[in-house]
Amino acid sequence: MLKPEIATLLNKQVNAEYYASSVYLQLSAWCENAGLEGAALFFRGHSMEERTHMDKIFDYMSECSIPVKIGSIEEPPSEFDTLMDVIQAAYQHELKVTEMINHLAKTAFELQDYTTFNFIEWFIAEQHEEEVLFGKIISKAEMLGFNGQPGQQLHIMDNYLRFIKD
Ligand code: FEO
Repeated sequence: MLKPEIATLLNKQVNAEYYASSVYLQLSAWCENAGLEGAALFFRGHSMEERTHMDKIFDYMSECSIPVKIGSIEEPPSEFDTLMDVIQAAYQHELKVTEMINHLAKTAFELQDYTTFNFIEWFIAEQHEEEVLFGKIISKAEMLGFNGQPGQQLHIMDNYLRFIKD
C-alpha cells in the first residue's frame, strides 16, 4: 500500500502529464495555424508521448490499488508571437515537470518507498532526454541565427522539427 503522501504526488503527476499533453497539442495547433507543418507534427507527436507518460503512472497507481482522480486542467497557453516563443515555452514547461519528478523521487526515497522510487527513475531519465532534446533545438536555432521571424531560417527550423528524433 502506498503512503498517502506518495499517492497524492502520483495523482498530481497523472494530472500534470495530462496537462502536458494538452500544452503540446495547443502548441501543435498554433504551428498548424502558422503554416508550420513540420513543427505541428513534432508537437502533436509530443502531445501523444505525454499521454503515454500519464498512462504509465495511471497503471502504476492501479497496480497499487490507488484510485486515480482526474481533475480539471487549466487552459494551456495559446498566444505566441513566433515559433521561437513556442519552443521556449516547451522548454520552460519541461523544466517545471523535471522539478515535479525530482520532488516525487526525493519524497519516495525519504519515505523509504523504494518501489515508487524505482518506478520514478524511468521519469528521471525521460526528463533528462526531454531537456536535452529542447536544449538541442534551441542550440540549432541559435546556430542558424533564428529569431522566429519569417524567412529561410524559419523554413529550415520547421523542417528540422519535422525530422528530429525524440
Ligand atoms: Fe512527461 Fe515531457 O514530461
